Amino acid sequence: MNPDLDERARAILVANDRGGYTIPTAGLYPYQWNWDSALAAWGFSSFDIDRAWTELETLLDGQWDSGMVPHILFRAHDPSYFPGPDVWSSGTTPSSSGITQPPVAASMARLVWEADIDQGRARVAKLFPKLQTWHRWFMQHRVREGAVAVTHPWESGRDNCPDWDIGMAAIDGSGVGPYERRDTGHVDPSMRPTREQYDRFLTILYWGRNVAWDAERIMADGPFLMADPGTHFILMRANEDLAWMARQLGEDDKEIMDWQSILKGGCDFIWNEALGAYDARDMRSGAFAGVLGSGAMLAYYADAARPALDAHLMRSWDAVRYGLPSSDPEAAHFDPRRYWRGPAWPFLNALIARGLAMSGKQQLAERLRRETAEAIEQGGFSEYFDPIDGTPCGGPDFTWTAAIWLTWAGLGPTPS
Ligand code: DGY
Repeated sequence: MNPDLDERARAILVANDRGGYTIPTAGLYPYQWNWDSALAAWGFSSFDIDRAWTELETLLDGQWDSGMVPHILFRAHDPSYFPGPDVWSSGTTPSSSGITQPPVAASMARLVWEADIDQGRARVAKLFPKLQTWHRWFMQHRVREGAVAVTHPWESGRDNCPDWDIGMAAIDGSGVGPYERRDTGHVDPSMRPTREQYDRFLTILYWGRNVAWDAERIMADGPFLMADPGTHFILMRANEDLAWMARQLGEDDKEIMDWQSILKGGCDFIWNEALGAYDARDMRSGAFAGVLGSGAMLAYYADAARPALDAHLMRSWDAVRYGLPSSDPEAAHFDPRRYWRGPAWPFLNALIARGLAMSGKQQLAERLRRETAEAIEQGGFSEYFDPIDGTPCGGPDFTWTAAIWLTWAGLGPTPS
């Protein structure tokens, strides 16, 4: 416990509250982002339970008729961000992006409910069918060979990680036309994706917009389709938590458990035997990325780790000081301050630590908590950190870093 930092973390959540929804950080991310918002709900549950429920409610208010919950909800125009609502042209109310993001919301809803077990039932009962519809959408529109695929690197939330390099190499970004980035005006460009990556991000976006965000066409013919261990394991864990909520509510959990069987089977599809780890995989060519990324480490969070993964976990973690790195520190592509190509992400550490604790690795969970706490104590509530020297990187006063401080990093050992 550190009363000053606790107070500061609460102040960040309150300052980033835009009235029922929370932005990740002012300037760089001025809208409601899907998985950031779910993490915000967990953070609010530590001091304002009503506000925690409201966060999940506003997020799911943005659900499309198809069941998809978009990765960004544009509730109020803010020119500090590109690409904004005019670029995405979703035609929905509120306007939104046309892709989704890792479905961590059901797991966060469970945590909020556990913090409000008596009073929370009525609110969770309203959220439950929306969450189930979203997961059903995932199973129908993003699962092939039993594995969860992403149709845009932004859909994984780990935008520029090396996992996507083989899929991105197949995109011709040369016809993208003029555009002006805003992110590099808020954050040191060396900590952000490159111009070449942005050309390709936008090329994929325009392709989806041109087919009016038709999920079937995007899956069948879209320019980018890669199996993502990160989203796969987050959905697996979220299904477990959704099934738990179903049983508490007296609902049938059969459909959800059937989904789980499919995803458990799909783990083989994303297991790269040569690498000895879970690995991203191009769904069109079948090629593995050949990259050890933090998405693979989420296997612990989904109770899907395999013994060979332990060696990679320790090797990559022991090479840095403030774990866990978002990509392999011994690989040529490792870049310790560039977004998802190396930095440690506190909120991801929180999820992985929960998985480590759950699989009996209490000491590792505690080491991860301590290292994350030290980075925050020294560098503040940054978006991410250099895992070698702890330099704070990316956006400041970040919602999910504050949230996991209040619910995990700033507390004692992670409960199993
Ligand atoms: C961004 O704009 O950097 C976001 O990560 C996209 O979701």
